[in-house]
Formats: sequence, structure tokens, C-alpha cells
Amino acid sequence: METYVLDTWYPLTWSRNVGRQLSAHRIVERDVVLYRTEAGAAVAMEDACPHRLLPLSMGKLKGDAIECGYHGLTFDCSGRCTRVPGQDMIPGNAVVTTYPVQENMGLVWIWMGDPSRAGSVPVFDLPQYHDPAWSAVEGDALRIEANYLNLADNLCDPAHVSFVHLSTLGNAASEDIPVHHEELDGRIVTWRWIIDAPAIPLFAKYGNFSGNVDRWHYYHYHAPSIAIIDFGSAATGTGAPEGRRDNCMQIYACHFMTPVDRNTSIDHWLHVKNFTADADTNAALSADFRVAFAEDKAILEAIERNEKRFAERKTIKIAIDAAPRRMRRMVDRMIEGAPTGG
Ligand code: FES
Ligand SMILES: [Fe+2]
Repeated sequence: METYVLDTWYPLTWSRNVGRQLSAHRIVERDVVLYRTEAGAAVAMEDACPHRLLPLSMGKLKGDAIECGYHGLTFDCSGRCTRVPGQDMIPGNAVVTTYPVQENMGLVWIWMGDPSRAGSVPVFDLPQYHDPAWSAVEGDALRIEANYLNLADNLCDPAHVSFVHLSTLGNAASEDIPVHHEELDGRIVTWRWIIDAPAIPLFAKYGNFSGNVDRWHYYHYHAPSIAIIDFGSAATGTGAPEGRRDNCMQIYACHFMTPVDRNTSIDHWLHVKNFTADADTNAALSADFRVAFAEDKAILEAIERNEKRFAERKTIKIAIDAAPRRMRRMVDRMIEGAPTGG
């Protein structure tokens, strides 16, 4: 079993998928059953009946309680057993572990660690998501057969865009532009500017730039499983690198990673942009992102397979690996319970 950061809020699934039915999920190698109470609150508990370990997700929702599908033991939303059919005595250890949950940015977030610490850590938020001047469009839950830290590598790595995403997010103009990074408390920012270059395909399609642009990519990685990619473009010479972003086109591509197990992760992605558009344009933009993230998935899954085949092989390091290496050290420190550093 791999070790994970546990005292953190992980994205589990889209809020839109959680209702008055039991659904089974897996995160950090543990099984979780999820549902909504009649009042609409999300509830998460271990997906195993304490009697014979049947997944509770195979049972029935009765009011706000789960009735196990084998012998009918019933557990309320605090995990307490309220009924054992055929007897009055309820064993003291007939309890199911529950997990704190919260909802924000269209997602259910779960705390798999010490529940007494959950209240002191805010769930991640991107203020622009709630700002009426911006527009948020939910994407998919992309399942990737790769470790979530390999996905996190990719999300601390603007350099790959010039080679992997040529039909959407990148172009050759950025191939040789160096990447900078900075380690802050609990997060790593990786960035670069591409000055006076043609717009990338996505911005050429949705923006109305008549000439070259100044383009930025800021990858904000929040350990252990969140990456917010701030990228945008403004007409060259209008002062975007100095902070003047009037008439720019800006998108936050948000990646909320669920570490399912050692070999599998789920990338819940959405985008928040500084322009509104009709439903068809939003859908077309999501379709373009879908193309780009499928390209990442193909690469990450191929790498994962080769890492297993060539387990003994030492890989080489180049300058762009500095941020991903720091990311991994940060996650290791979190797993050990040490401060994240700054
Ligand atoms: S396995 Fe759940 S009641 Fe027996
Ligand atoms: Fe990518």
C-alpha cells in the first residue's frame, strides 16, 4: 500500500453526481459510499458493513440511513447502527467510519485523515469561480491509469505544452523559453512568458487577436492534489507582463486530482474564464480541453507502463524537472507530517 497525505481535502466527485442513491468511490486505496440526506447534505462513510464486510453501496437508502443488502443492519448518517433485524441488542462495535465532506466549486471534497483536524483547514477555493464577471464551465472526471504524482508532475510542467498540445494549448514559439518556479508555503508556482508570438490555437479560435500576443502560463500547484493553470494572452505591447491585463483573454484551467490508488487517478477538470459565451461555445471550448487532456492521459499512461517495465532504470534530469522534484519533496514532507516549507 502506498502512503498518502491524509489530512487534506481531496476532491471525490462532482456534486452533480451525488443524489438520493448510494454510489461507490475509491480514494487513497479506501472504499467510500456516498449519498445525500433528504435535506440535501452529502454523507460519506466506509463502504463496508461491519458485519460481513458487504459493501454498503450494495444496500438500500432508507430515509437518511443505509440498510445493508445482506442482513439488514441499518446505519444512520453518523455511522451508528440503529437496527439489527431479529434482535434488540445492538453490538457496541456496530459502527461505520464516516468521513467529513464539504462541497465547493461543484465538487464534493472529502477528508480521509484525522477528523478533528478537518475544521481547521479550509477547502480549496478559486474566488473567480464565484465572480459573475467570470464564467465557470464544468468538464469531466478523466480517469488516468497513472499515479497521481505523475499527473502532478505534468501539472508543474509548462514545457510539455509546446510538444504535446499543438492543436490546442501550445505552439512552437515557446519551445525554447525557459521555465521559472518558486516554492511557497504548501504550493509551487511554475511559469513562463512567451512574448510577441502568434496566439496558440485555442486563443486564435476564441479570441480576436489581429497580431502577435504576449502569452503567460502560471501553473499553481497546491499540494498534494490541486493544480490551477492560469494562462492567457494579450496583444503584444499592451503591458500584460507588467500587470496590465485589459482586453486580455484569461482562463484558469482547474485540475482537481483524486488519488484512487497507486496506479490510478481521476482528474476532475473545469475551466473559469474572463469572458462569457453561449452554451455552444462553452461546449466547444470544453471539447478542445478534452482533446488536450486526452493527450496528457496517453502520455502519462505510457510512462506509467514503462516505469513498471524499466523499474530499475535511472532517468535523467533536466532544468524543467526542478519544479516537479520540489513538488515530490513537498508531498513527502506532508506525508511525514513535517511543515511544507516556504
Ligand atoms: S453483511 Fe451487512 S448485515 Fe450482514
Ligand atoms: Fe498537458
